[in-house]
This record gives sequence, structure tokens and C-alpha cells, in this order.
Amino acid sequence: MVKSTKWLAAGALCLMAASAQAQVNQIRVWAAACANCHGTEGRALPGMESLAGKDKDEMLQKMLDFKSGRKPATLMHQISKGYSDEQLAQITAYFAAQKK
Ligand code: HEC
Repeated sequence: MVKSTKWLAAGALCLMAASAQAQVNQIRVWAAACANCHGTEGRALPGMESLAGKDKDEMLQKMLDFKSGRKPATLMHQISKGYSDEQLAQITAYFAAQKK
């Protein structure tokens, strides 16, 4: 019984690690949708806004303002509407953690 509890705990830990990894992969997939315009991992070519290493809260606020239409935009209104607020928070945290 003790043994099987131990295995159960080990199994649960594995599952938790696997789902944390799946979560990171999911965020990468969302973030990849921004790469066409904002560059690989948010490092844009000159003339485009880089996202890598920017302040997370500031970026999130801009995304939420795009989504609500408060901030003027050509493209970002449509793009930001494709994600939940929670997803936008995860995506902006991902870009904030990338090297400039
Ligand atoms: C098709 C090109 C395109 C894609 C894809 C795109 N963006 Fe943008 N982004 C823009 C443009 C253009 C602007 C300038 C505002 C505007 O005109 O919409 C911008 C502006 C921004 C800004 C504000 C930058 C600043 O500091 O003023 C943020 C933050 C941003 N984008 C994040 C994202 C994120 C996150 C994604 C992916 C979910 C994304 N963008 C996908 C084109 C794009």
C-alpha cells in the first residue's frame, strides 16, 4: 500500500510536469502567431515594434486597449480579439521574458 502510494505520487508529479510543459508549448504556439510581424520571439526588424524584453504590464495593457478599441490600431484590434484576457497575459509574459 505504501509502495503504491509512492508510485501514485510519482505519477502525479510526472503528470504535473507534463502539463506545465504542455502549457509552455501552448503559449509558444500563440506567440508564434505574432512572429510574422513582430519578429522571431518578438525581436522585430527595424521599423516594427519589438516585443522581446518589454514591460509585461505595459504590453498587456496595450493588448487589452486594442481589444476594447480604446487604442487606435490598423491590425491589432482584430488580432487581440482572437485571445482571451488570460491568454494575452500569458503571451505578453512570454515576450517580456525573451532577450531583447
Ligand atoms: C499582421 C501583423 C501583426 C501581427 C500578426 C501581430 N501584430 Fe502586433 N502590431 C502590428 C502593428 C501594425 C502594430 C501597430 C498598431 C496597429 O496599427 O495595429 C502592432 C502593435 C502591437 C503592440 C503595441 C506596440 C507598442 O508598443 O506600441 C503590441 C503590444 C503588439 N502589437 C503585440 C502583438 C502580439 C502579442 C501579437 C500576437 C498575438 C501581435 N502583436 C501580432 C502588427 C501585427
